[in-house]
This record gives sequence, structure tokens and C-alpha cells, in this order.
Amino acid sequence: MSVGKDMKESHKDSEYTVSQTVRPSGYVSRLEEIWYGISGPFYDIMTWWCFLPLGGENACRKAFVDWFEVELGHHVLSLCCGTGSTERALIRAIPSAKVTAIDLGSGQITTAKRKDRTGLVDYRVGDACDTGFEPRSFDRVLITLALHEMPRQLRMSILREAERVCRPSGRVIAIEHAPLSRWLQRFVRSLWWFGWVPGNPESSTTKDLQQRGLANEMKQAGTRVIRRHTTKPEWIEGIVAEPDRICIDSDTP
Ligand SMILES: C[S@@+](CC[C@H](N)C(=O)[O-])C[C@H]1O[C@@H](n2cnc3c(N)ncnc32)[C@H](O)[C@@H]1O
Repeated sequence: MSVGKDMKESHKDSEYTVSQTVRPSGYVSRLEEIWYGISGPFYDIMTWWCFLPLGGENACRKAFVDWFEVELGHHVLSLCCGTGSTERALIRAIPSAKVTAIDLGSGQITTAKRKDRTGLVDYRVGDACDTGFEPRSFDRVLITLALHEMPRQLRMSILREAERVCRPSGRVIAIEHAPLSRWLQRFVRSLWWFGWVPGNPESSTTKDLQQRGLANEMKQAGTRVIRRHTTKPEWIEGIVAEPDRICIDSDTP
């Protein structure tokens, strides 16, 4: 359990501080920098392919929205939003939600803005490790299918930031590749999701995340896990957590 006001400062000194290996752009490799700068249109074709065995992308994104349990008037922050597919599903389901979505990739944000016909989502280029938003200002903070691409320090930094900007009664929800116990399932998923591509930069970070456990890392980032969801088949998991902090200032909502 941690004390709210001092959290950001103490985290800066901890082992989770983002290492010097992160490039000035915020990405961990030049390849990622280039890919997410230009990949907008191709990225959506790739995700369409990835979701096929799970019943299709629309059905999965709709299920994710159910996991978020967003209510009327909620203020939602989506970190690493990519091309905005989850945000579009969210706004379709709950048009009254106030959604802010950020991503480092200018190409991703350009595509997200182009595809958003409602104009209801506030898309911004920004770093999820340091959003600049006020502490405790969002009812839901979402991180969908992004952490597996990052080394531990970066994942922890983003999870800490999610915890920082989440209201005490709010939820942090992270959606990721689920750990699979059966080797055949692991093999098929890896085949379908390009795990066989030589030098695939996601392979080692995905393995590390699964070994450490997403729920464990969310706990270490100062949240208390309250629920776990999975798709069918169980290739993707969603961990729902709440800030685990004692609020000491009287003006806390
Ligand atoms: C695999 S994509 C997931 C996109 C989207 N959330 C989805 O569900 O399709 C990962 C995204 O994380 C973004 N990203 C990586 N590091 C980031 C950071 N430090 N801050 C913000 N976005 C970041 C990338 O630009 C990319 O769009």
C-alpha cells in the first residue's frame, strides 16, 4: 500500500525508472520508430489478421469495451492507443464518454484521427510514461495490446503513470497476450501472430512480460487487481485493477 501524494517522486528513484536505452523519441528501437511513424494503414490490416481466430476484431474490441465498464460521463484515458480501434468501439458503445487517447507514433495518431468520424475522441501525440495530466483525473485508464512490445522498465513506467492519473475509485485496465499453459496453443498463436519472424523485436519482451505476469506488474505499479477476463480462445487477457493507495489530502474526490 502506498501513500498517494508521494508516489511519483518515490517511483522516480526506484528500479523502474526508464533506462537510458529508450531513444529520445520514446521508442526502444529505431525499427519501432520507423514502423510506428509510417505504419497506420498497414497496422490495421495486421490487427485484422491477428484477431481472426478470436472471432474477428470488431467482436474482440467490443468485448474489451465491456471489460472497461465505462459509465455515462466517465473520463477515459487510453495510453498507446495506436490507430484508435478500441477507442472507436468505445465511443460507439458509450457516446457520452469523454475519451482522450495518446500515442507516440504520429502516423498512428494521423490514422486514428482520419478514421474517427464522430470527432468525439481527443487524439494526441504523447508519451505514455509522462502524460502531463493532473494526478487522479481519469475514471478509466486503458492500455491495450502495447506493453508486450516494451522492456520491463518502460512497462513499469507506463503502469505507474496509469496509476498516477487514475482516480481513487477508478480502474486501470491492461489488455495483453495471455500466458498459455498448453504448448500447442502457444505454438499456434505464435505461428498466427508472427512469432516465427526472425529477429521479431516483440518476442523477448512478450516472453519477459508473461514470465513476470501482467497482474504482478500491475500490483508492483501500485494497483490492486480485482478481475481478469479472457477472450475465447484464451489468447488475450484483460486485467482490471484499482489504485491501491491511501488518500491523505482532504480534497481528493
Ligand atoms: C501494438 S500497438 C497497440 C495499439 C492499440 N492500443 C491497439 O490495441 O491496437 C502499440 C502502440 O504503442 C505505442 N507506443 C509505444 N511506446 C509508447 C509510449 N512510450 N507512449 C505512447 N505510445 C507508445 C506505439 O506507437 C503503438 O502504436
